[in-house]
Amino acid sequence: MLILSIETSCDETAVSLIEAHGDFPHAKYEILGNSLWSQIDTHREYGGVMPSAGKREHIATILPLLEKTIHESGLGPYDFSPAITPELEEKVRTTLNRELSLADQLLTFYKEHGRFAVDLIAVTTGPGLEPALWVGVNFAKALALLWDTPIVPTNHMEGHILASIYDVERDDQLADIVFPSLALLISGGHTEFILMKDWGHYEKIGQTLDDAVGEAFDKVARLLGLPYPGGPEISKRAATARKKKLPTFTKLPVPMIGSGDLNLSFSGLKTAVRYAVQDKELSEDDVAAVARDFEDVVAEVLMRKTTDAIDQHGIKSLVVGGGVSANQHIKRVIESNLLISHPDVTAYFPPPGLSTDNSIMIGLAGHAHKASALTPAGASILAAEGNKKHRQIPLGEQIV
Ligand code: KG4
Ligand code: ZN
Repeated sequence: MLILSIETSCDETAVSLIEAHGDFPHAKYEILGNSLWSQIDTHREYGGVMPSAGKREHIATILPLLEKTIHESGLGPYDFSPAITPELEEKVRTTLNRELSLADQLLTFYKEHGRFAVDLIAVTTGPGLEPALWVGVNFAKALALLWDTPIVPTNHMEGHILASIYDVERDDQLADIVFPSLALLISGGHTEFILMKDWGHYEKIGQTLDDAVGEAFDKVARLLGLPYPGGPEISKRAATARKKKLPTFTKLPVPMIGSGDLNLSFSGLKTAVRYAVQDKELSEDDVAAVARDFEDVVAEVLMRKTTDAIDQHGIKSLVVGGGVSANQHIKRVIESNLLISHPDVTAYFPPPGLSTDNSIMIGLAGHAHKASALTPAGASILAAEGNKKHRQIPLGEQIV
């Protein structure tokens, strides 16, 4: 089964072509083509993700990325000169009427290249930033109409879970996770514990009550004068502080540790950092020390809550996913602790390149749900299920 997958939920535009050999979850996957454009440079000047600029950039990059992915895969069109009726052209234009020139570009591409023998189009419908999501959803719908291909809506968070068990050392198959499994999803928009009793069974058993952990990294980075996205910046400095054995800059509270439930909170921690650093001239070592103090507390609270969740639900495997799962310190703390407290629980972290947003994970999620695919005409009901929240702290604005 040849799957074209599309991701535009936040600040990455991504398109992949994946061949699935066999059925989910035992298929072997082959990545035939994979292209990704990160909008980080655009958003950096706003201090976070700016929805309108993001939407514009998704529109500008999605077709070039599709072309690049197809080119990389070596897949040729199976129908060079397909008929295009005025009705079909009209449908494509209506589908893409909010995406400015994208309809013209796509129709030109179609007239030049024809159709490609893709079996399924998978697209992220949520959660994410609504204006960004719509670009991918409408583009996928238009493509489905032109190529006469079924289309399957996929959930971005399920994608993160599947990316984390995508095992490149096991012939590109999914790891054979033992249930019940716990997913710890830590990204810029989400921080949640998901109980998985089986494939496709997801129950949220805990979540952040305020900021997502990635958001906290981004905000603390801003307080320290570091650029967006803050996660990698903080983690680099924290590593330096550990190497130099810098003393504690500030004793930060470990939030929600005695709450008895599986909820988390990062807003108070961020505020504590703000109080500790405001009106101070910070040296490079100070910045590194604060970054380390902050990262230590985040790793500790995630590790302790994860351990609680494992105990409370008889968990047999742990899947850590989302952009923040790229954090090596958090990974080390969780893994080394599990080795002692729960040596029978296997922990899975995403392979390099699959922790932050990508479309390979959307292809995997699409494959899992291929039975729910809609016909190109039926796909007109698909809608972006996101929010309009600005994941953005305008530069110059104070972080509260
Ligand atoms: O999953 P993702 O790419 O996008 C969302 O779905 O939100 O996650 C992005 C988030 C950002 O907040 C970024 O700062 C954080 O992941 N991040 C990290 C690291 N790499 C990315 N946070 C901590 N340490 C990292 N190494
Ligand atoms: Zn994500």
